Amino acid sequence: MDVLEAIQKRRSIRKFKTTPLTSEQINNLLEAARLAPSGCNVQPWRFIIVKDTQLKTKLCEASFDQQFIKDAPIVIVCCSDLHSWKESKEKTQELLNRPDINLGEKCEKALMERVEKVTADSTHERIPSAMLNVAIAIEHIVLTAVELGLGSCWVRLFDEKKVKQILKLPEYVFAVALLPIGIPNEDPPTRPRLPLPKIILQDSIKSD
Ligand SMILES: Cc1cc2nc3c(=O)[nH]c(=O)nc-3n(C[C@H](O)[C@H](O)[C@H](O)COP(=O)(O)O)c2cc1C
Repeated sequence: MDVLEAIQKRRSIRKFKTTPLTSEQINNLLEAARLAPSGCNVQPWRFIIVKDTQLKTKLCEASFDQQFIKDAPIVIVCCSDLHSWKESKEKTQELLNRPDINLGEKCEKALMERVEKVTADSTHERIPSAMLNVAIAIEHIVLTAVELGLGSCWVRLFDEKKVKQILKLPEYVFAVALLPIGIPNEDPPTRPRLPLPKIILQDSIKSD
């Protein structure tokens, strides 16, 4: 399956068969996440694979009773380690030292200044970057799931404090999304999308 086909086939799946995932499937999903790009190659994503029924039930309750969280054979809790940026100077320097990357003096200076800032930021201030970077890795998982014949649904509607407590996450680990995954037990139609002219800003400005 090519990427475009996976993108076209993907739906948010909220009904799953009880068939468990194989370790190979889970490894493939996590490998897809591992290969995601990230700012300064910081790779702040961390994952918790939840199969235990009791834990899934608690996650379901912490997500305002979204039943499919409990029903999915696994839930990948997609997190960010907000301490990852501690190493961002080294990681960026590593990138800039690579012979295959040549950003130019001006850009390198700006990049290092930004890295200095993010290193000095409080963990809380890193949350937007955490969200952005982990979201990319999550979507890698979502699309790989389609290729493997699996379905998933992004879940952001949850009580962050409760999820943190349930999984005993340290203060610096932030849950970005829950991702229930399993074999789909429904075949939903495509959900509505804006037409291209609506999302290309130049076109809408011109037509005004
Ligand atoms: C960041 C994000 C958060 C979402 N949170 C939830 C959620 O908490 N519960 C849910 O049922 N669906 C959730 N969704 C799924 C959306 O409702 C869904 O993507 C949208 O309606 C389009 O449908 P489709 O994914 O089938 O194309 C979320 C999707 C994204 C990208």
